[in-house]
Amino acid sequence: MDRRVLSIRGLSTYFYLKNRTVKALDEVDLDLYPGRITALMGGSGSGKSVMSLSILGLIEKPGVIVKGSILLEDMDLRTLPERDLRRVRGEKIAMIFQEPTNSLNPVIKVKDHLFEVSLRSGQGREKRKAIALFQDVLSRVGLRDTLTILESYPFELSGGMCQRIMVAMGLLAHSAVLIADEPTSSLDLTTQAAILKELSRLRDEGISILLITHDLGVVAQMADDVYVIKDGHILEQGTVYEVFEAPKHAYTKLLLEKTNGIY
Ligand SMILES: Nc1ncnc2c1ncn2[C@@H]1O[C@H](COP(=O)(O)OP(=O)(O)OP(=O)(O)O)[C@@H](O)[C@H]1O
Ligand SMILES: [Mg+2]
Repeated sequence: MDRRVLSIRGLSTYFYLKNRTVKALDEVDLDLYPGRITALMGGSGSGKSVMSLSILGLIEKPGVIVKGSILLEDMDLRTLPERDLRRVRGEKIAMIFQEPTNSLNPVIKVKDHLFEVSLRSGQGREKRKAIALFQDVLSRVGLRDTLTILESYPFELSGGMCQRIMVAMGLLAHSAVLIADEPTSSLDLTTQAAILKELSRLRDEGISILLITHDLGVVAQMADDVYVIKDGHILEQGTVYEVFEAPKHAYTKLLLEKTNGIY
């Protein structure tokens, strides 16, 4: 039985710069399954964020998806009209962006960011219940003084707080697919542990997670499946056991040597 939630084939995203073309993704295949965490690991500039933005249809000029397909429940997201794509982004695929300060609207209160997510996921139509739900989700990402935060604007909060609000929105969305691009980078270890626990919980509820992180310790701890990406190419792919126990590619071995002893 084919249980894939998302299936990417031959995806190529290029950036046409003045004097050269950057092939940020070049003929990439990737599959996501329900109830599994798939880690995308690779160095800086390897194409991880471009992958998530391509899936969501958020690549902007000079970037173009030049070929490939992104199948979600028989829909090819690549050819879906923007109106339908917007609905997919709200209801089917949630995203925790790498740059939370750019992704939250500075002049919309935190509670209204959360309202928008919760309405789309069909929760919290009743205001009082919604606020309680928001307080709960904010505390689960390690935020205190949650009522004050709900009434705040993102521009009043620190980068770390905005990042945690982004994560809270991802948790609240409860969509079939969650893409988390460096969800815990620059957060302290306690908060990181709390967030990873929440992601595991979503996985156990059947959600499919694409986890993008530099931290191979986190990959070892969290991932079921692993893809290694370099210069826009998938070098290898397998279960976390396969890739960590018997890496096929020299580059993967090099990556893993840096985290000796964690796994
Ligand atoms: N808007 C853009 N214009 C031009 N080139 C871009 C743009 N966005 C990404 N790229 C290029 O695409 C390639 C992949 O970038 P991407 O942001 O996906 O890297 P990444 O793997 O997410 O890196 P990091 O780990 O640092 O976040 C890089 O060479 C980058 O310079
Ligand atoms: Mg990135």
